[in-house]
Amino acid sequence: MSDAGQLSRRSFLRSGTAAAAATALGAGKTMGQEAGATARIGIVGVGSRGTHLLRTMLQFPGVQVPAVCDIVASHAKRAQDIVEKATGTRPEPYTNGERDWERLIARDDLDAVVAATPWEWHTPIMVGSMRAGKIGGTEVPAALTVEECWELVRTFEETGVPCMMLENLCYFSNALALLRMVREGVFGELLHAEAGYQHDCRYLMFRNDGTLTWRGKHAAASNGNLYPTHPIGPVAQWFNINRGDRFTTLSSVSSKAVGLKRYAAAKFGKDHPLATREYALGDVNTCLLQTEAGLTVTLYFDLNTPRPYDLILRLQGTNGIHMGGKIHLEGKSPKAHTYEPFATYANQYAHPLWAELQQAARKHGGHGGSDYVMMYDFLKAVKNRTPFPQDVYDAATWSVITPLSMASVARGGQVVDFPDFTQGAWKTRPPLPIYGA
Ligand SMILES: NC(=O)c1ccc[n+]([C@@H]2O[C@H](COP(=O)([O-])OP(=O)(O)OC[C@H]3O[C@@H](n4cnc5c(N)ncnc54)[C@H](O)[C@@H]3O)[C@@H](O)[C@H]2O)c1
Repeated sequence: MSDAGQLSRRSFLRSGTAAAAATALGAGKTMGQEAGATARIGIVGVGSRGTHLLRTMLQFPGVQVPAVCDIVASHAKRAQDIVEKATGTRPEPYTNGERDWERLIARDDLDAVVAATPWEWHTPIMVGSMRAGKIGGTEVPAALTVEECWELVRTFEETGVPCMMLENLCYFSNALALLRMVREGVFGELLHAEAGYQHDCRYLMFRNDGTLTWRGKHAAASNGNLYPTHPIGPVAQWFNINRGDRFTTLSSVSSKAVGLKRYAAAKFGKDHPLATREYALGDVNTCLLQTEAGLTVTLYFDLNTPRPYDLILRLQGTNGIHMGGKIHLEGKSPKAHTYEPFATYANQYAHPLWAELQQAARKHGGHGGSDYVMMYDFLKAVKNRTPFPQDVYDAATWSVITPLSMASVARGGQVVDFPDFTQGAWKTRPPLPIYGA
């Protein structure tokens, strides 16, 4: 482990000073892992995603999991079995209700706490963890309200303990290759991006017993972009958001809501209460964002229609455009007005993390290996006490799109101002570097 940019274990866990916060705010550099370094992780919420994250982290050397927490005892037991099999040590379970994670974060043998619960618990668990001196790693989104976003930022600034939102889309091989191409000037000056979380998730909204899941309850109650961080994460990194530029305004509109009623009617019968009730969430939500430097983003959210998965990942600059696995670059692509496949560029501009981790990632990691690469980066920062490539300012900026879009939709698409969580520091923070493995 070396020199600059490194935060010592002491300053990470104890300092509570503005200096630690400033260091983390200013840097984005990561370094190789200390040989023999350990990361002691407590995990809260071991359902579908938490179990997957647990299995992924256990692929790496030096990972210990002394404690697991879930309100469903059988989920915690499954996690205990997985950890015991992988490490030989059975973690302690915390299963006494919705706030038992408070006992977990109070343990003195944890470096970090990972949360993979339903959304409403992410901020309370992360704020509690930072206050207890444990690095936070939260599933997406990190927060649901503007106030929660500020709470995350202020807690980090008061404690100096970092919190990373585990946004795995930023680690997709294509997203990182595009980041490298942006940094190397291949697209020229950037102008516009279009991205979306467009994923038929209707099956995740309903339980077979005819009730709504926690996701279904959000869809029934809220109208806006309820899952913005997957598509905005890579865009924000390409655009240097919070690191030279910032989002200034957002406006959002939703289509009418039909998909869930139709799906419930097909699943439970047309007279079932879930088929006859109203759902607040419009089937297709569209946001428009502007940045201080004059760039624009179109962001889609579409979970409740029959459709193939599509993130779009349109990135447009003065030299050309990438969109959906195709690219056209003026003067470089063989034919004018014609796309070529992105695959050759993806190899040529492979991000160092992917060049290094490719084989293991494809073998072990979900989401095309990106979960493995993300976990590598998270654990590296935990072990080495180095700044995180996605920090609490990113977590707040990407997550706040949900409440802002809800406010805008409720006012007929009215433009709303974007909070500056860095409070002006975006002007001087250096861009995220192309960090190596
Ligand atoms: N990054 C990704 O690709 C990705 C993919 C899927 C889900 N997710 C995110 O992961 C999170 C979990 O999603 P999921 O699909 O695993 O849901 P899930 O319902 O399968 O799992 C949630 C788990 O949290 C537990 N839980 C609920 N309240 C709790 C509390 N107060 N304390 C402790 N445990 C509690 C539940 O019992 C359950 O085991 C969500 O935030 C979701 O958005 C991210």
